[in-house]
Formats: sequence, C-alpha cells, structure tokens
Amino acid sequence: MAPHPRELLTLPLAVLLVASLSPRADAWGKEGHIMQKYLSEKAAAAVQDLLPASAGGELSAVCPWADEVRWHYHWSSPLHYANTPEVCGFKFSRDCHNSRGQQGMCVVGAINNYTDQLYSYGDSKSSYNLTESLMFLAHFVGDVHQPLHVGYEKDEGGNTIALRWYRRKTNLHHVWDVSIIDTAIKDFYNKSMDTMVETLKLNLTIGWSDDISHWENCENKKATCANDYAIESIHLSCNYAYKDVEQNITLGDDYFFSRYPVVQKRLAQAGIRLSLILNRIFDGDKTDVITSTVTVIA
Ligand SMILES: *[C@@H]1O[C@H](CO)[C@@H](O)[C@H](O)[C@H]1NC(C)=O
Ligand SMILES: *[C@@H]1O[C@H](CO)[C@@H](O)[C@H](O)[C@H]1NC(C)=O
Ligand SMILES: *[C@@H]1O[C@H](CO)[C@@H](O)[C@H](O)[C@H]1NC(C)=O
Ligand SMILES: *[C@@H]1O[C@H](CO)[C@@H](O)[C@H](O)[C@H]1NC(C)=O
Ligand SMILES: *[C@@H]1O[C@H](CO)[C@@H](O)[C@H](O)[C@H]1NC(C)=O
Repeated sequence: MAPHPRELLTLPLAVLLVASLSPRADAWGKEGHIMQKYLSEKAAAAVQDLLPASAGGELSAVCPWADEVRWHYHWSSPLHYANTPEVCGFKFSRDCHNSRGQQGMCVVGAINNYTDQLYSYGDSKSSYNLTESLMFLAHFVGDVHQPLHVGYEKDEGGNTIALRWYRRKTNLHHVWDVSIIDTAIKDFYNKSMDTMVETLKLNLTIGWSDDISHWENCENKKATCANDYAIESIHLSCNYAYKDVEQNITLGDDYFFSRYPVVQKRLAQAGIRLSLILNRIFDGDKTDVITSTVTVIA
C-alpha cells in the first residue's frame, strides 16, 4: 500500500503524491478491516487500548500513518519493502538490509521487530511506544503481501518500469499498489471500497475457508512467518507482476483479469495473517481460533 520510496525522491512531488493518493492508495491497509472480526477478545481489547483516539477504534484508519512518517522517521523508509537480485527468490541474509548494508532493515526484519516489541505489552518497564509498533506492524504486514514490495532492485520494485494502465501513464509498482484495486472497485463493486471489502470477507468464509489453515503455517514458528510471506511475494512478482511486461507496454483487460485474483487473495491473506499475529502476541497461543471460527461459518 505504500508508494515505493524512490518514487518519492523529490519531496514536493512526494507530498503531493501521498496527499492525492492516500484516500485511495490505502487499499492494502483495508486488511485492517478484514481482520478485525478475526481478533480474539483479548487481542481486540489490546488493539483498542493501543490505537490512538483519532482512529475511532479502526485499525485500518491508522494504516496511512507509516507512509506519512517516512519523512520524519527517515530510517523507516526501507522497512516498507525488500529488494532482490533478478532471481525468483528472497534470502534474508542477502536481501534484508538498507542501502547502507545494515542487516534486518527491510519489511521482513521490521515485521519481526515490531512483533517482538508488542510482546512487551503490559510490561510497565517497556520502553517502546507500542502505539507506533502496532501502526508499523499493521502497515508492514500489508506491504509484504503486495508482491512488488518484494521485487527486483534493478527496477526498484517496478517503479522504473513506465507503462500505461489502459490509457493512463503510470508505472508497474503503482499498478499493483493502486490501479488494479481502483479498476476492480470501479468495474465490479459500484465504486465502493466497502463493497469490495465485504466481498473479500465473504470469500474468506466460503471460497478460501479450506486454505486459511495453510496460510499461517511456516517452518519457523519462533518469530513470525514474514520470511515466507516475502518468498511468496517475489514468486508472485516473477510469475504475475513482471510476467510479459516491458517498458512502455500498455496493460489492459488481459492483465487486469488475470492479476486481480492474485491481489484479492493477497489482501485476504494479509488480513488473516495480521489477526493471527496479533492473537498470538496478545492472547498466548490462540492461533487456531480463526480456523475454527471460519469452519463453523462455512
Ligand atoms: C525496530 O524498531 C525501532 C524502534 O521503532 C527502530 O529504531 C529500528 O530501526 C527498527 N528495526 C527494524 C529492523 O525494523
Ligand atoms: C506514541 O506515538 C504516537 C504516534 O507517533 C504519539 O502520538 C504519542 O504521543 C506517543 N506516545 C508517547 C508516550 O510518546
Ligand atoms: C451503486 O451506488 C449508488 C450510490 O453510490 C447507488 O445509488 C446504486 O443503487 C448502486 N447500485 C448498485 C447496483 O448497487
Ligand atoms: C470471491 O468472490 C467473487 C465474487 O463473488 C467470486 O467471483 C470469486 O470467485 C470468489 N473467489 C473465491 C476464491 O472464492
Ligand atoms: C519508452 O518511451 C520513451 C518515451 O516515450 C522512450 O524515450 C524510450 O526509448 C522508450 N523505451 C523503450 C524501451 O521502448
């Protein structure tokens, strides 16, 4: 859901871009909407406690925050993504660092970092601002699911691939951040983001209910599964986002209809996984709650 940082190199343009896009560009943040009903009672209470009053109790309302503080917290900019060489794979030791080579400074390291910090909730000696930790975590779980937030360094996650989306000039990264979702909302959901979110929720209880238990499983359960989510994203980048795309191409119906299902599923996965992470942090090991809830409904 974040514009890739290099898209925003010049500040005035960047501010304009963020300002003009954020009402729509926060679609990846809607996972906040999707997940809220899957939170356990204890996790929901902790989230309410930590959210700033301005959020009105909605986790999705704070999602733009992490994009807004990129100017102020300059160090946080590389935490929105990870760059890989031109291979269909992500390796933490090779790819998770900032431009100065500082290890862990990428979206995967950030998810682990803010998860760790949130474990200190309720500990009066905690020195972290856990409101910020929660806002960062929710945002980065969305980012790691946007395939091109784990993309090639060479083209800055698709930012330098100029093309047209139907008739409009844009770039590949922006197509995945915003355009595919906008087109879907316009064509399928009567211009209503809420209708799209409702459909996603419905799909979660019907179409995807069998998949949900697999969405959280990963080999290393100690930290989070963020490493696996990044690997999924780079595979989706190779097989869908970059596939058959070149400079100056015009993308239209063929690309839209074949890629939209990927976006839909990634938004749903982000929502489910964020709630699983938060349930585990705030409510011990209640990781199976979601699966059983969904099975009962289905
Ligand atoms: C972890 O969080 C702290 C506090 O926000 C921040 O200073 C640090 O850069 C973060 N590191 C990573 C890898 O996210
Ligand atoms: C925690 O961070 C939020 C968001 O940046 C800020 O509004 C709040 O004042 C901070 N709280 C403390 C105790 O510093
Ligand atoms: C689409 O939305 C408009 C209001 O924005 C509403 O008047 C209309 O009934 C809706 N159409 C459908 C098919 O839901
Ligand atoms: C999600 O819902 C849409 C609209 O009802 C449907 O076309 C699509 O096949 C569903 N996808 C899944 C995976 O259930
Ligand atoms: C893409 O278009 C620009 C200007 O429209 C042109 O300068 C550039 O050479 C083109 N690149 C390719 C690879 O066709």
